[in-house]
Amino acid sequence: MSVRYGVVGCGAIAQRRHIPECVHNPNSTLVALCDPNAQRIDEISKAYGGVAKCYTDYAEMLKDPTVDAVVVSGPNSMHASQSIQALEAGKHVLCEKPMATTREDAKAMMAAAKKSGNYLMIALNQRLIPAHKRAKEIIDSGRLGKVLSFRTAFQHPGPESWSVDGGKSWFFQKGSAFMGVTGDLGVHKADLLRWLLGQEFVEVGGFISTLDKRDAAGKLIELDDNAFLKLKTDKGVLGSMILSWTNYGPEENYTIVFCEKGVLSIGTDPTYGVIVDYRNGEKELHKVGEIATNTRQVPSGVIDSFTECIRTSTPPSIDGREGYCSLDVILTAMDAGKEGRVMKILGC
Ligand SMILES: NC(=O)c1ccc[n+]([C@@H]2O[C@H](COP(=O)([O-])OP(=O)(O)OC[C@H]3O[C@@H](n4cnc5c(N)ncnc54)[C@H](O)[C@@H]3O)[C@@H](O)[C@H]2O)c1
Repeated sequence: MSVRYGVVGCGAIAQRRHIPECVHNPNSTLVALCDPNAQRIDEISKAYGGVAKCYTDYAEMLKDPTVDAVVVSGPNSMHASQSIQALEAGKHVLCEKPMATTREDAKAMMAAAKKSGNYLMIALNQRLIPAHKRAKEIIDSGRLGKVLSFRTAFQHPGPESWSVDGGKSWFFQKGSAFMGVTGDLGVHKADLLRWLLGQEFVEVGGFISTLDKRDAAGKLIELDDNAFLKLKTDKGVLGSMILSWTNYGPEENYTIVFCEKGVLSIGTDPTYGVIVDYRNGEKELHKVGEIATNTRQVPSGVIDSFTECIRTSTPPSIDGREGYCSLDVILTAMDAGKEGRVMKILGC
């Protein structure tokens, strides 16, 4: 059985990852594309030999009986409503991150998935990156002892060099994006750390600001472009998270975990994706493939993973609840930044 996908929101992430990954997987087929930009989807369909039907009306695509699963990959503000509509239409849903812009919407998505009996997976792809999988194996093996603290950073020049619509895209419009860099990059890191440590965050605080990023008209954006967060987990691990859309030099995307018996570094070396420096002086170097950056895309494994879930009737591990818990960290961080105090994370 081949899983037949329709994609709604056919911009950068769909064109660079979901669509090619769907076409290349022998167990999945691209059957439909939907986007308000008719020319864009027509060109994509042609590039793949005209295999996909093109829709500018999402409701029409959802009526298409050849679509088994929908990839929701448009602006953040559309994720919840488009996911719920697809689930209600009997489709499985792979939704981009952040899964929603409010806790209520995220809960409604989870409820719609439960009611429909269809799968909802959130494209929190950091968990599928080989370096991160290796790091988790090492932490779970216990050879580094207890985790004490971490430092993580994700800093690039901003979404205008990534989005198919450049500086005019939804990324810089508050109504469509709702969150700036904290939602865009922070949700990846919150999810990665929750999963790596196997712990939930319980407190967050920090500085969240707009320092430099301007829209296509030259106006400072109404969304955050930098965040420095401090976090605490339910087991007392302390960490810092640095997020930026204004790093105009080489991209930073690393995570360092400080443990009782040594230090685990991910993404700090161009050759060795994971390095372990033991307290006794021993060192482990792990060559485990690259971490994707905006300019250097590597397969995400997201479509492969969701396709396997559907084919084998296995619920996705990165489900609505996981998406919700990671989103909750970020929504609380945004409130904490606004109020200038540390806040408790109540969600999970
Ligand atoms: N998982 C990841 O690593 C990752 C990376 C990049 C982006 N994303 C997420 O993917 C989503 C899309 O980001 P992108 O980088 O592809 O953006 P983009 O600006 O490149 O593309 C967005 C697309 O959505 C279309 N669109 C606009 N309004 C729409 C609507 N109402 N319905 C359907 N489509 C609509 C636009 O025409 C455009 O084709 C965002 O939620 C973003 O956070 C995830």
